[in-house]
Amino acid sequence: MIDRACISLSSKCQLRCTYCHFDTHIDKKSVVEISETNAKKIIFNLLDYAKANQGHMKIGLVGSGEPLLRFKLIKAIIKMVKVIDKEHLLSFYTISNGMHFNEDICQFFFENRDIIKLCFSIDGYEPINDLCRVNATGKGSFATIMQSVELYKGVFGESPSVNATVHREILRHAESVLDFFEENFRNVTFSRLVDVESPRLLISKQDFQKFLELAQTRKLEMRQFKAKKYDCTMYGQLCGVGRTNIYFDNGKVYPCGRFVGNSKYELGNATDPIDEIERYMVSHITPCTDGQCYYDNL
Ligand SMILES: C[S@@+](CC[C@H](N)C(=O)[O-])C[C@H]1O[C@@H](n2cnc3c(N)ncnc32)[C@H](O)[C@@H]1O
Ligand code: SF4
Ligand code: SF4
Repeated sequence: MIDRACISLSSKCQLRCTYCHFDTHIDKKSVVEISETNAKKIIFNLLDYAKANQGHMKIGLVGSGEPLLRFKLIKAIIKMVKVIDKEHLLSFYTISNGMHFNEDICQFFFENRDIIKLCFSIDGYEPINDLCRVNATGKGSFATIMQSVELYKGVFGESPSVNATVHREILRHAESVLDFFEENFRNVTFSRLVDVESPRLLISKQDFQKFLELAQTRKLEMRQFKAKKYDCTMYGQLCGVGRTNIYFDNGKVYPCGRFVGNSKYELGNATDPIDEIERYMVSHITPCTDGQCYYDNL
């Protein structure tokens, strides 16, 4: 059963992170931004499907760019969800680079914290974060993201959940990077860097696993060590392709974000009913064995 969907709200971004895999996969300039009408239609379809299957649906409003650049759309979606989803079958999250964050946005996420969770991306202390997370002129993003973290803490009374993309430089400074996360955050999702060939950044699955084991010795809450679920091996444990996951971008549906732009892996049009998409998915994709990544296997 499909229980995880990700909707790409924008391919535009203020940053040019050197590892951003969407920059290598798709021509961002050719991507058509999702309209409010289509976004709402997709949410309706997901809710219909959840109701019909008596299930819950976790929906990421993230994608190939910076979601908070579509803050108005996020607000419109959540306003609609409050009206149509009385049984709370849908829950939402978004991941932001924190470059476009202010009091109003923070207040919105606080007031709607039972429906949508906000998470920030940060890779570690300043030189580690700014090695890759830079803007078009090469300026690092650390100072701004930490201001956003402080604003969040002031309103929520606790630190935000963060997503850290683990590359080779992080492994080289593993203890000090983990000190940074332990001192500043509690809930950290470490994601394995993928689709980057630079030897300075590239890491193996084994190295990533070793890093996770080291991180487990720290006072951090990490999803990799919670119950095993089908989502994604980059940040979770098991691959959900062909089983639980779908990804909406550029008017189409794909098995996960790494397939965007590959017409061979289109599962349907974005506004198709979800049971139709599921029928196509199960007849065309054989899920990989536990522990493997469908995309890496290709
Ligand atoms: C594509 S971004 C979109 C949201 C937002 N712009 C951000 O950076 O948080 C979502 C997450 O994907 C991660 N990411 C980007 N490129 C990656 C790669 N090559 N391998 C693994 N994770 C990557 C980012 O670090 C970020 O945490
Ligand atoms: S902020 Fe996110 S979308 Fe933008 S370049 Fe960095 S990883 Fe990619
Ligand atoms: S194919 Fe790989 S990247 Fe995609 S969801 Fe599965 S484990 Fe994650």
